[in-house]
Amino acid sequence: MKHIVFYFSGTGNCLKAAKSLAEVLPDFGLYSMGNAEAPAIGADVESVGFVYPTYFWGMPAAVLRFAKLLRPEELRGKYLYAIATYGGSPVNALRGFAALMKRRGMPLAYGATLKMHSNYVLMYDMKQDVAGATAAADAALRPILSDIAARRENKIGHSLFLANIVNGNFIKSAPGKDRGYRVSGACTGCGICEQVCPVANIRMENGRPVYAHHCEACVACIQYCPVRAIDFKGATQNRGRYHHPDIGPAELAKANKAML
Ligand SMILES: Cc1cc2nc3c(=O)[nH]c(=O)nc-3n(C[C@H](O)[C@H](O)[C@H](O)COP(=O)(O)O)c2cc1C
Repeated sequence: MKHIVFYFSGTGNCLKAAKSLAEVLPDFGLYSMGNAEAPAIGADVESVGFVYPTYFWGMPAAVLRFAKLLRPEELRGKYLYAIATYGGSPVNALRGFAALMKRRGMPLAYGATLKMHSNYVLMYDMKQDVAGATAAADAALRPILSDIAARRENKIGHSLFLANIVNGNFIKSAPGKDRGYRVSGACTGCGICEQVCPVANIRMENGRPVYAHHCEACVACIQYCPVRAIDFKGATQNRGRYHHPDIGPAELAKANKAML
């Protein structure tokens, strides 16, 4: 394998962007940063990419943890890049990750942010036009793919102190976010929530999801539930649901389990 893309995805946007890299990087493998271990990266690997969503102006806790599992000596001399997807404003999502990678001796050569449909249903109703947002994201991804295919380099700004505080507070609260989830009688016990959870935070017990309180707040469970049986604190019952139109639950679940 010549190219590895590490991704983290709750509702499919980042998996879609990560998969698109295969168009320009043949001989390519995907691996979820929701996994608890980082795979060994061989000497024949030429590029390593990171595709993840913006969470509260920064990155998901899983991405932070995963970056710390990487072994800098395995990444030396390879083309390293990142794409941070976001719904409204990425603020520090790329800058914070670039700073972390630099501190750990694995500086990124290239970074980009990519606006996609916003998915954080716990906080707001998602009123974006899905087809329009998807088409705009596809178009915005094209020049990023060309840059990566050509191994272009760019300058990523410094990490922003205030954004780190906002993201740090989120990261502290995220594991217990699942205490706010309520599962209604509409639940059919299909297990999709368990399968799409990128960090194995859900297990089915007597046909019902049980949360283990190491949640990432990625909202995969609520968004992919086919019967809208999962609600957050009574706030989301009447809100829309979203996942990337090209990424169904089976594909996300399979990708999340794939090993390199
Ligand atoms: C917990 C959480 C926090 C988020 N915070 C931000 C944010 O600060 N800024 C932003 O533009 N989008 C934010 N978003 C939206 C996502 O970054 C965006 O929809 C992303 O493309 C989702 O990727 P995914 O479908 O691969 O999970 C947030 C989403 C979640 C779930």
